[in-house]
Amino acid sequence: MKDWRDESRAALGAELFGYLLGRPHDMRPDDADPNELAWSRYRLVPRVLQGHDGVDVTCRLFGRVYAAPVGVGAFAADRLFGADGVTAIARACAALCLPIVVSEEAVTPLADVTATHADCWLQLRAAGPLERAIRLSESAAQAGCQGIVLTVLAPVHPAPGLHPGGVDVAAQVAQRGWSTIGAQEGVAKLPAFPSWGMDEFREMLAAIHALGMRVVVKGVMHPADAIAIRATGCDGVMVSNIGVRQSYRWAPVPRQLERVSEALEGSTAILVDGGIRHAADILAARVLGAHLAVVVRPVVHALAAGGEDAVQSMLRATIGELQSLCAWMGAATPCDITRDQLITLA
Ligand SMILES: Cc1cc2nc3c(=O)[nH]c(=O)nc-3n(C[C@H](O)[C@H](O)[C@H](O)COP(=O)(O)O)c2cc1C
Repeated sequence: MKDWRDESRAALGAELFGYLLGRPHDMRPDDADPNELAWSRYRLVPRVLQGHDGVDVTCRLFGRVYAAPVGVGAFAADRLFGADGVTAIARACAALCLPIVVSEEAVTPLADVTATHADCWLQLRAAGPLERAIRLSESAAQAGCQGIVLTVLAPVHPAPGLHPGGVDVAAQVAQRGWSTIGAQEGVAKLPAFPSWGMDEFREMLAAIHALGMRVVVKGVMHPADAIAIRATGCDGVMVSNIGVRQSYRWAPVPRQLERVSEALEGSTAILVDGGIRHAADILAARVLGAHLAVVVRPVVHALAAGGEDAVQSMLRATIGELQSLCAWMGAATPCDITRDQLITLA
């Protein structure tokens, strides 16, 4: 995946770039992103003389066919990172046939995104008044969204002043007179409490299903949670530590992905995000049990550096890299790669 970080830093300036990186306060300057580091320790073991006619990296999920097991995930304040914000990413995803998730803290109207790309999901926080979340789901259904990604881990910063990178991005959005999707008018502080339990979750799930949309639950790191959430009838879980933006000490995602996947035994769709930076990470994620690998910061860097063209060329190149890696692995599809073809460095 082309690394646009330097161009992104130049385009955004140090402060906003710092917010985008979101390095937590307990991380030292020379510490690597724990998710990126964890993925980079996985290495691929090729098989030879497998005799295939070609390689197919398309992915069937949620009744759709995607060009690859890759999607673009949610991020707040999208227009701070590029004039067209998430619409530019939606256009690139539509051209390449990849799904996109839009944050309720994005400032581009949802209907503008769904008009650009039908395969759009809205990400909502699982906290605060249930009626608020249901009302937003209704708006998402009206706008034509496929589903809701419900963030259940660290749904908001529970302590004031915990801004990733030290930047109060909500203030920057308000200064420009923009409205977030979630606030509908202006910028509302997201409610942290009441925090939800399984009863609220079940009610929310039923409301979204009644609207004809699917539900993916984001931020599932523990296998027992995955089993309990799966039992409610949701459509998928996303293993995610939300990009270790609060603390360096969150468990990295790859190992938890494998644990969650073992616990779920193929009973539901599994998505993963956090630190996916290379086509090899996407293949590793597939082997560890993910049906779809979701990427955020590399896409936002590309958006900041070169807009829609940069996003599209980066994602297109990633699909190409996936195809050639698969061929080198002796696999006709990513699903053919077996667990013994993935090793971790000591
Ligand atoms: C600038 C920025 C804003 C984000 N805003 C949200 C958000 O509103 N909701 C959410 O669920 N995750 C949000 N995230 C987390 C991402 O969706 C994702 O979980 C995380 O960045 C890990 O993926 P990555 O390592 O590919 O960036 C945000 C991430 C970034 C970088």
